[in-house]
Amino acid sequence: MGIKISDFGTLPDGRKAKLFTLANTHGMTIEVTDYGATLVAAVVPDAQGKSEDVILGYADVVDYTRFDGYLGAIIGRNGNRIGGASFMINGKKYQMEANENGNNLHSGPHGFDQVIWKAETDEQALSVSFTHHSPDGDEGFPGNFDVTVTYTLTENNEIRIDYRGVCDQDTVANMTNHSYFNLDGHDSGSILDHTLWLDADAITAVDAECIPTGELRPVEGTPFDFRKAKRIGDEIDADDEQIRMGGGYDHNFALRAGEGIRKIGEVVGGRSGRKMEVLTDCVGVQFYAGNFMDESSISKDGTPYHRRGGLCLETQFYPDAVNHENFASPILKAGETYHTTTIYRFS
Ligand code: GAL
Repeated sequence: MGIKISDFGTLPDGRKAKLFTLANTHGMTIEVTDYGATLVAAVVPDAQGKSEDVILGYADVVDYTRFDGYLGAIIGRNGNRIGGASFMINGKKYQMEANENGNNLHSGPHGFDQVIWKAETDEQALSVSFTHHSPDGDEGFPGNFDVTVTYTLTENNEIRIDYRGVCDQDTVANMTNHSYFNLDGHDSGSILDHTLWLDADAITAVDAECIPTGELRPVEGTPFDFRKAKRIGDEIDADDEQIRMGGGYDHNFALRAGEGIRKIGEVVGGRSGRKMEVLTDCVGVQFYAGNFMDESSISKDGTPYHRRGGLCLETQFYPDAVNHENFASPILKAGETYHTTTIYRFS
């Protein structure tokens, strides 16, 4: 058990990254880097005691700048899309950089995923806390936002992520983690044989640019019904309007309401039987099946990743929530504390 710190390479602009390796007493290890406060690896035993790394990632920080896809990164201040790359707060219009079809994705080209965060380790808690000061106007958002993201590896083989932030003006606070999981091993091929359960009765229906129309569409009778665990590959290419919009699953699931942190999802690897449960206090989760991945990114083992080689379960507010009055609001009031928690539990 313990925390080890090592070098993780140098960025093209000279900034140096560090890698933090956390090991518990139950055979689980995780690696996180201060670049993007990114989860790089999670080595987890299966029922037979065979360990695999279930997180897609790279061997050196430079690869995180060469390949896109936000692998393992913390996304902020806002995860997912903001339509028209603009929004209003208190009657004032804010314009962000448009980086996808005139919309904003994952807070634009200079997001939290590219920051070198300040790191502090806690051996007792088996955690690493990353802090960052996002100045007024950063990414187009109002206010000075001070953020902390804490990764804790628990003795229950859980990765617990706590997101905290305070701002001196009303702003958008909606952070998430963009890890791609493959429970059979990070470079073991497609996730289509994984089964998924999600505690959601509806998705936020989207238009052709993946921007929510505002409609909460029931999953009943659609390929989006994961209320009974289902093989992901069964309906990922179904003849369905919403499936076409996302090129497969790339949708926000409106989670059933619950008090505090509750279990909202479960994924099981098709070959290994390795299981991951997802717990959160967030209202939504983006299930992205890696539809945009291709062979251009080279994994930490030197092998290329493939389309649908990993899946993301990004807990968050609904996409574009800042522009929809019927969605829970991602606006953080000046001086108040933003705090959300997501847990990925392995067994
Ligand atoms: C997801 C998003 C996808 C894609 C991906 C990054 O969160 O929903 O559409 O943009 O990030 O490649």
